[in-house]
Amino acid sequence: MRIERQTGAIALAAVDDLLQAVALQQDHQPLPDHLWLDLRDGGGPGFVAVTAHDDGALIGYAQGSRGNGSTAAAVVLAPNAESPELAEALLAELLAGVADNGGGTVDWWVAEPSQLHETAAAEAGLHRGRDLLQMARALPVGTPIAIETRSFRPGIDDDDLVDVNNRAFADHHEQGGWTVATLRRRMAEPWFDPDGLRIHDRDGRLAGFCWTKLHAERRPVEGEIYVIAVDPDFHGRGLGRQLTLAGLDSIARRDVVVGMLYVDPANTAAVHLYRSLGFAVRRRDRAYTVELAPTAS
Ligand SMILES: CC(C)(COP(=O)(O)OP(=O)(O)OC[C@H]1O[C@@H](n2cnc3c(N)ncnc32)[C@H](O)[C@@H]1OP(=O)(O)O)[C@@H](O)C(=O)NCCC(=O)NCCS
Repeated sequence: MRIERQTGAIALAAVDDLLQAVALQQDHQPLPDHLWLDLRDGGGPGFVAVTAHDDGALIGYAQGSRGNGSTAAAVVLAPNAESPELAEALLAELLAGVADNGGGTVDWWVAEPSQLHETAAAEAGLHRGRDLLQMARALPVGTPIAIETRSFRPGIDDDDLVDVNNRAFADHHEQGGWTVATLRRRMAEPWFDPDGLRIHDRDGRLAGFCWTKLHAERRPVEGEIYVIAVDPDFHGRGLGRQLTLAGLDSIARRDVVVGMLYVDPANTAAVHLYRSLGFAVRRRDRAYTVELAPTAS
């Protein structure tokens, strides 16, 4: 087996084949959205990629992408090559790469963690960090919406949306610290639909938004509340509830009968809101975390 840190251009097609094979087996995409975009765009600052080959075949892939004060990491193992040893070997090389890039916090995100992940994390020196809940409910909701929303206007609303996003998610590792370029990378994705990004204006400014994303590859097709944010100036006035309802309505109008979302269980406002709208937990993801010192030069 050969574990290698990739320093030049990545063989995207081979990695994509591996990701698709794992997605078929697990029924979800093994790379979180922001990591996939970073890979597809050739890797921004702080990007680290590690491959594992056996007999010339790609059997494992690990990636780190720098976010808002931390590096988010993912490890993908080919369906017939799953072992804690392979995960740990990929992780160890990935962590060395992050340390070489200046170190800092690393969050290794795992969907439905098992003993394999616990063992690999412990061996690589990571400890349990944040959890992330995936919640879902059947659509339509059937509750009337009490506010007006409109479609996002590409090229006109970009700055205002990023501003509200960053104010609402000021301390968030993955969702905070966006630039207009971060937004536009998502707008360039095939699933992007400006009508599915519902905006509410209040007092002449963009006060909040609910961005939806259809997962057309799932059976049945599912609609995600991809990002929801209310400007802190407008918190606690019912806008979060109404914007969520508007997002779910926009999903249901596209003939989708399942709504889903991800939420940090520590985000009490959001968890309370989603539970009261009938969402129930159907999966738990976990970050394994470590604080790395920069490699001594
Ligand atoms: C989550 C968020 C969208 C809620 O928006 P909001 O406009 O403040 O929420 P609402 O006024 O509609 O309140 C919704 C419910 O949450 C409750 N709530 C609001 N803030 C709360 C808090 N800090 N703790 C507990 N409950 C809270 C409200 O009481 C209300 O419940 P109720 O109708 O049963 O009384 C907003 O806090 C936000 O933008 N947060 C940052 C971004 C974020 O975390 N997004 C969600 C990621 S999954």
